[in-house]
Amino acid sequence: MTAPIAIIGTGIAGLAAAQALHKAGHSVQLFEKSRGPGGRMSSKRSEVGSLDMGAQYFTARDRRFVNQVQQWQAAGCVGEWTPLLYNSNSGVLSPSPDEQIRWVGTPRMSAIGREMLGELPVEYACRITEVFRGTQHWHLQDADGRNFGPFSHVIIAVPAPQATALLATVPKLAAAAAGVQMDPTWAVAVAFDAPLQTAMQGCFVQDSPLDWVARDRSKPGRDTTRDTWVLHATSTWSRQHIDLPKEQVIEHLHGAFAELLDCTMPAPSFTLAHRWLYARPVGGREWNTLADVDLGVYVCGDWCLSGRVEGAWISGSEAARKLIAQLE
Ligand code: FAD
Ligand code: NAI
Repeated sequence: MTAPIAIIGTGIAGLAAAQALHKAGHSVQLFEKSRGPGGRMSSKRSEVGSLDMGAQYFTARDRRFVNQVQQWQAAGCVGEWTPLLYNSNSGVLSPSPDEQIRWVGTPRMSAIGREMLGELPVEYACRITEVFRGTQHWHLQDADGRNFGPFSHVIIAVPAPQATALLATVPKLAAAAAGVQMDPTWAVAVAFDAPLQTAMQGCFVQDSPLDWVARDRSKPGRDTTRDTWVLHATSTWSRQHIDLPKEQVIEHLHGAFAELLDCTMPAPSFTLAHRWLYARPVGGREWNTLADVDLGVYVCGDWCLSGRVEGAWISGSEAARKLIAQLE
């Protein structure tokens, strides 16, 4: 029997690769350091319902991804979100409608990861720290010293700084990944018992610590009685306040939100903060995927393309396509 293919990371890139390989008849084994799939496109369960703390929505511009989104829609895990959009520039808030189609996971962002994973085998709470080659095959070691393998090939589907650490045995790929810087994002969720007096459901923000604001419960299928909002800080503010305690981050961003709406905002009845250390790649690339086909190591993720959900999906799919072509 041929050894399976190891995939490190169950974000959308790793899952896209896993799905394509499985469909082509190859056996895969996934590894994930968290307790569930989805990565930056997952949601957090809370007492006020699930909250999308990472990816807020996604657009589909590439034909292949458009087809995939249609399949997700048919499976019921994706719906269109048509928020009343605003724009805030130098403190001036104005409606900013457009024609862009925006998609979200339903009833929560993480529904897509669950749908993609299906019954594929995954080892959760397993942070891979080393990827090494034996005489013929690849092996992995995790932070608890456990060994996994043998594997015929390895796909590394994690943010660039984390990929660099796993590519010690493939210096050329490690150097490429090391050249990609990723910026952090502080994300805060706030909930109010009584709805805020605004029609706004999403807002692109300039000239503020905030970059983006979304009325989470305006997304399709969200089941909550409270008025839930997700606030994202800019990369610059997040970098400058990277080690600020969560309570202070909440206070700052809640204050910036009140300033944005230009109102005396009630104290939220629920708050939550999450720090994404590797939220978005600085600059865009057109790599699709990185690979050393002779060694059998493939690298994918949003940072190989556009730094968006669509880019991550294409990158993972391309890694699988390249590997399948090698095996034929
Ligand atoms: P990830 O989702 O990061 O997946 C990598 C996975 O690997 C993670 O699950 C991680 O836990 C795991 N992992 C890492 N290291 C290891 C290891 N050593 N061992 C095992 N597992 C490991 N995109 C949009 O299109 N629209 C948006 O509105 C949008 N908003 C965003 C807002 C925020 C705050 C953030 C953070 C991102 C946003 N994005 C958005 C970007 C989008 O979320 C990403 O482009 C996409 O989800 C990346 O997928 P990925 O598979 O490449 O990486
Ligand atoms: P999109 O087309 O909706 O947005 C792209 C950009 O266009 C926005 O960032 C905004 O600046 C501008 N824009 C779009 N519609 C607008 C409107 N109606 N009014 C004013 N400005 C508007 O979506 P796309 O291209 O799929 O981008 C994804 C989004 O994800 C972006 O907003 C990006 O900033 C965000 N993102 C956030 C990350 C983070 O860490 N916070 C990481 C990766 C992506």
